[in-house]
Amino acid sequence: MRFGIKSRTFFSYIALLLIFIFLMVLYDNNIISVYAAVVTAIISTLLIIYITLERLVKPLEEITQTAYEMAGGILKKEIMVQANDEIDELATSINFMAQQLRQNMIMMGEERNRAKAILDSMGEGVIALDSESRVIMINPALEKRFKISRKNSLGKKVIEVIRNYELDKLLRQVLHNKEPLSREITIVTPKPTVFKVHATALITNASTPAGVVALMRDITERRQLDKMRTDFVANVSHELRTPLTSINGFLETLLDGAMDEPETSKYFLGIMKKETDRLNRLIDDLLKLSQLENNKTKLEKRPVDISQVINQVKEMFTYQAEAKSIKLTAKVMENIPCVMGERELLVQVLVNLVDNAIKYTPEEGSVAISAVVHQSKVKVSVNDTGFGIPAESLPRLFERFYRVDKARSREVGGTGLGLAIVKHVIELHEGKVEVDSSPKGTEFTFSLPMG
Ligand SMILES: Nc1ncnc2c1ncn2[C@@H]1O[C@H](COP(=O)(O)OP(=O)(O)OP(=O)(O)O)[C@@H](O)[C@H]1O
Ligand SMILES: [Mg+2]
Repeated sequence: MRFGIKSRTFFSYIALLLIFIFLMVLYDNNIISVYAAVVTAIISTLLIIYITLERLVKPLEEITQTAYEMAGGILKKEIMVQANDEIDELATSINFMAQQLRQNMIMMGEERNRAKAILDSMGEGVIALDSESRVIMINPALEKRFKISRKNSLGKKVIEVIRNYELDKLLRQVLHNKEPLSREITIVTPKPTVFKVHATALITNASTPAGVVALMRDITERRQLDKMRTDFVANVSHELRTPLTSINGFLETLLDGAMDEPETSKYFLGIMKKETDRLNRLIDDLLKLSQLENNKTKLEKRPVDISQVINQVKEMFTYQAEAKSIKLTAKVMENIPCVMGERELLVQVLVNLVDNAIKYTPEEGSVAISAVVHQSKVKVSVNDTGFGIPAESLPRLFERFYRVDKARSREVGGTGLGLAIVKHVIELHEGKVEVDSSPKGTEFTFSLPMG
């Protein structure tokens, strides 16, 4: 049987009343004196008050104490009251509320950890600001990219953390208009880096935005590739148009009457033949480059005897070297090991290097091909006594269509693709190509892993 506070208080009053009646009966019958009756009445009243308060106030005190602790974050504690009344119910519901809170907090903690793990593993930079443009969060990618620390950045104005006015302006704009915005911004990090910034306002229930969050993706490489692609198309068009314009010009002159002069005709046709050869070579080289780019994974490597390749290329250029009185020599280390690769591609590499060496070396000079083993690699070098390459041109030498002296290179039929092919082939063979040059001559060296 369960009694509530109300019924227990009621019973206490009834008990008190019965005691009073009993005392009055005792007094009426002269069994006890008036003093004894009054004293007994006072004692029993105090006793009943004490018992009632003890049963009511003590559990309430305990509940209040535990509720305070729960409010302070100690949710593990439980109220242990066995009163079998409304206080018991109150304690049970507070315990249930604490349990629910505990579960909600665990869920929120998990949610927060998940969000943190996502932010930490993101390659893109993320920055969040409060309504006053102060940093409230940055992720590790952003820390790394801008070489800043989270600890030192929190609470600072964004402009003090990332010194870029365009970014600051964009974030303020989003904060003010509450509309998401995307923009490409170049920021010095210390290298100029192009970022695609996507900023969105952090909206809460309040009418003013709570802040702004921005996602910053580095698109420098993509922009560079776009530029390379447009440059490449422009270069190809230019390279194709130059010989075609020249051929067209000579054809028109021939049609205009020069055809009747056999000597002039022969001279013009000779030039046209040279230009046509150039066009052919250019298209061949472009095809070779695109094949190399497409066949990145399909290289069929076999052991290649590099001394045979060197001898074959040396023979191919004997006539060309003699025509310029250039001394062409080859020196290969004895028992040189094979390299793993595609023979035809390696022949092409050496052809391009020896062709350059002979082309860009004045008459009476010399070109030497050599091969040695160095640090477990087969190193092949082509040395010439030409006029060399200026130091400022060396970093761009292997770019497609790059020529140090366009006029001179074109004169000797160059299209600027030879070294781009060399670099591609050597890299496909997991090798390295280097150049060392002075006004007295140039040395190109490529090294390949031994087979
Ligand atoms: N041995 C060398 N000595 C001096 N300059 C060189 C030498 N090799 C290359 N160069 C310079 O590097 C440029 C690029 O060479 P690359 O072989 O790529 O093109 P090219 O010789 O002009 O044309 P291609 O080889 O496509 O017919 C040349 O135009 C030339 O200016
Ligand atoms: Mg060349």
